[in-house]
Amino acid sequence: MKSILILNGPNLNLLGSRQPNVYGATTLPQIQENCVEKADILNIKIDFIQSNHEGALIDALHGAKGVHDGIILNAGAYTHTSIAIMDAISSVELPVIELHLSNIHAREPFRHKSFIAPVAVGVIAGFGPHGYVLALEAMVAHLGQ
Ligand code: DQA
Repeated sequence: MKSILILNGPNLNLLGSRQPNVYGATTLPQIQENCVEKADILNIKIDFIQSNHEGALIDALHGAKGVHDGIILNAGAYTHTSIAIMDAISSVELPVIELHLSNIHAREPFRHKSFIAPVAVGVIAGFGPHGYVLALEAMVAHLGQ
C-alpha cells in the first residue's frame, strides 16, 4: 500500500480563523479528516503533520525517506524563502507536490516566487481545502501501481 506524507508549514494550524477571506473557514483538522476519507477511497496510507518550525519541516522531509512514497507539501510562507527546504526535497529524492490553498500568483508579488516549485513534480494552488484532495489524486496517479 502506498504511503503519502502531507506536510503543513507555519500558520496553517490557524486555518479557520486566519484571514478567512483568503483561506476560508475550514480548519486543519477538517482538512485532515477529508484527506483520511480520500485516502480510504484511494486505498493508500497517509500521515498528516503541521509545524511552525523550518527545522522540524526539514526533519519531517528527511524522515519520509524509506517510509513514504511521496510528499504533499504546503510550506506556507517558507515556500517563498526557504532554500533549506528546497535542498531537503532534493536530498530525499521523493516526489513532492507543492500545494497552496490560495492562488499565490494572484496575490502579492513576493508570493509569486517559489523555491519549492523547481524541485516539485507539480503545483496545485487556488482551490482551497479541495486542493489537498486533488493533490492526493495527483500523487497516486504520479506514483502509478
Ligand atoms: C499558503 C500561501 C503562502 O503564501 C502563505 O504564506 C501561507 C499559505 C497557502 O496555502 O495559500 O501561509 O501556502
